[in-house]
Amino acid sequence: MLITNIKGLIGLHLKDKLVLRGNELSNLPVIENAWLLVENGLIKDFGEMDSIPSHISNLSSDISAEGRYVFPSWCDSHTHIVFAASREEEFAMKIQGKTYEEIAAAGGGILNSARKLQKATEDELFQSAALRLKQMILQGTGAVEIKSGYGLTTESEIKMLRVIRRLKDQFPIPVKATFLAAHAFPAEFKNNHQGYIDLIINEMLPLIAAEKLADYIDVFCEKGFFSVAETDQLLKAGAKYGLKPKIHANQLSVSGAIEVAVENGAISVDHLEESNEETIETLRNADTIVTLLPSCSFYLGIPFADAKGFIKTGLPVALATDYNPGSTPSGNMNFVVSLACIKMKMFPEQAINAATLNGAAAMQLSKDYGSIAVGKKANFFITKPMPSIAYLPYSFGESQVDKVILNGEIYNG
Ligand code: NIG
Ligand code: FE
Repeated sequence: MLITNIKGLIGLHLKDKLVLRGNELSNLPVIENAWLLVENGLIKDFGEMDSIPSHISNLSSDISAEGRYVFPSWCDSHTHIVFAASREEEFAMKIQGKTYEEIAAAGGGILNSARKLQKATEDELFQSAALRLKQMILQGTGAVEIKSGYGLTTESEIKMLRVIRRLKDQFPIPVKATFLAAHAFPAEFKNNHQGYIDLIINEMLPLIAAEKLADYIDVFCEKGFFSVAETDQLLKAGAKYGLKPKIHANQLSVSGAIEVAVENGAISVDHLEESNEETIETLRNADTIVTLLPSCSFYLGIPFADAKGFIKTGLPVALATDYNPGSTPSGNMNFVVSLACIKMKMFPEQAINAATLNGAAAMQLSKDYGSIAVGKKANFFITKPMPSIAYLPYSFGESQVDKVILNGEIYNG
């Protein structure tokens, strides 16, 4: 596939650049008036139209992209897209002013989703999750992480992870699976936390490892959910099976989650709507990626994370959707990038880098995904005609994604 007359080919980081820290996020390399050649699903070469080699200009161009930009696909490193039912009944409670914790305590929240998921079949869950994933891809996402965590029993957690495995087998994008049985305590373990933790460690983990159903382990480390000590126990148990942590940290309060995650070699800490000096200090000397989820803040009406502060400190910030039925019923990375700019004051270049290369890094995929580099997978999208790069986040709520290319082929859903 040859694409010519591209107004701007963006995200041109060198192939060995695996993550962007601090100020590096401001650099979004671009070639104006460019061509891009794809071969065998990989990026083969690119350059300026003015100096296009004759052996390439002699090829017939498959797409002439006048006025349009080519972006590396979004890499959405935090989602919960396997669920049985939406939860818009909680939407009204939120509008009345109930908080996330109050809704959960009133029988809504994660336990509400778990009750519904336990009754759904693997096929039903696969069908609905596949529809969601298809929509996400059509909105520009070209790599995704998906969590379990609405099963909360051995049978249903494995059912969820098998659905994720099927998505991975049937979709043309990389899918990483995260085991999140430690999302909430089931009602029967309300007063027996250790009983549920033992179930996860002694029963679920060995089965999941035997079927190789997960890449990562996650814990919702939060007041009213899993304590720091419980998180530590679970992360250490996961490590025995080779599962690295990617955890929910500091969403509703500063809890010590960051410290325990970093100690246990976490790939990423996600949320951080709440943070303080110690949080930042702990992260300064770590390789852990800081994944921010602004559409969760937007939907719940909770504070937005201090993206500017994290970047100023030199941390590697990534952006993801958190697509789930309770706190973020949207898988639209374009909107996430807009919110990052509008609400967290990230510059468009920073937000785009955070949603591409650093998102890929938060899934350990940045060797092959997340930027336009020779030898990387040809996963990218072509925009509608746009006046500038900043127009994409500026025109929030309206998709600028025109054509999606995955492994060098046009994806039509
Ligand atoms: O990332 N915080 C925990 N998990 C999800 C919400 C889950 C739910 O409410 O169903 C989140 O926001
Ligand atoms: Fe989440």
